[in-house]
Amino acid sequence: MIYSSGYTKEDNLQTLLQTRVFGRTAYKFNEIDSTNRFAKKIALQGAEEGTLVYAEKQSQGYGRRKRHWHSPSEKGLWFSIILKPHLEIGSLSLLTQLGVTSTAIAIEQVIETKLQVKWPNDLLLNHKKVAGILVEAALSGNKTLHAVLGIGININQEEAEFSPEIRSQATSLRSAGYKHIDRNALLAQILLQLEKDYFKSLKQDFSFVLSRWITRSSILGKDIRIKVNGSILNGRVKGFHGNGELVLVLPHGGEERITDGTILEVNNDPGY
Ligand code: BTN
Repeated sequence: MIYSSGYTKEDNLQTLLQTRVFGRTAYKFNEIDSTNRFAKKIALQGAEEGTLVYAEKQSQGYGRRKRHWHSPSEKGLWFSIILKPHLEIGSLSLLTQLGVTSTAIAIEQVIETKLQVKWPNDLLLNHKKVAGILVEAALSGNKTLHAVLGIGININQEEAEFSPEIRSQATSLRSAGYKHIDRNALLAQILLQLEKDYFKSLKQDFSFVLSRWITRSSILGKDIRIKVNGSILNGRVKGFHGNGELVLVLPHGGEERITDGTILEVNNDPGY
């Protein structure tokens, strides 16, 4: 294990790890701006596949559209993994689906409750967001040089600790009643699940990821209002394409395949 200069505490992650590659090289920080930012930097310098960057606290954690991701000390898991898949740009959202579903399965094994996935990158518990996944890739032409898979999981926050703006939409394992989560044990479990699923998907295809996604989807068959490139679309979610696109049936019957967007309402409920 490689420890960063920010590392000061004992950490038992290596003794819990059952992986071959993921997390075998790791950088641990007490505080960092963003584990994704650091992982992108070391990936450019040649860090190997499976390298883990994790932190007790992030001062500038971010999610999709550079939205601030609140990452208080010891309240969650904030980490990033470097991947080097041979994927073309059009298939990159598969990594998001992989990250979301493998993380879901690992958390489900610990809390013994099924989670839901909200397209494109959220994990929900009791209809509230408990985790988010952010994939950032470095490209050469239309090939992926490397990708950073960033995962944030809310674990120990009490409901009152969430800011009033997000309280109705965010949750943590603790505020959902799971009070004694061993964060490093959960991290080791996620890394094991991810490693298994990642290498399996590179050998076969991603269809098993898509079926896991479909069985957990919070919006399949529902009417949604979605913002796509500044326009608002309404329609019913027909399904998800193998490359991560959401398939929407529009009111006049036509279909739209959406690669990126923000869901604003589900079944007329803005606070779904
Ligand atoms: C989202 O919901 O939009 C994705 C949130 C991803 C947050 C994680 S926390 C670890 C990693 N470092 C970051 O700055 N972001 C990701």
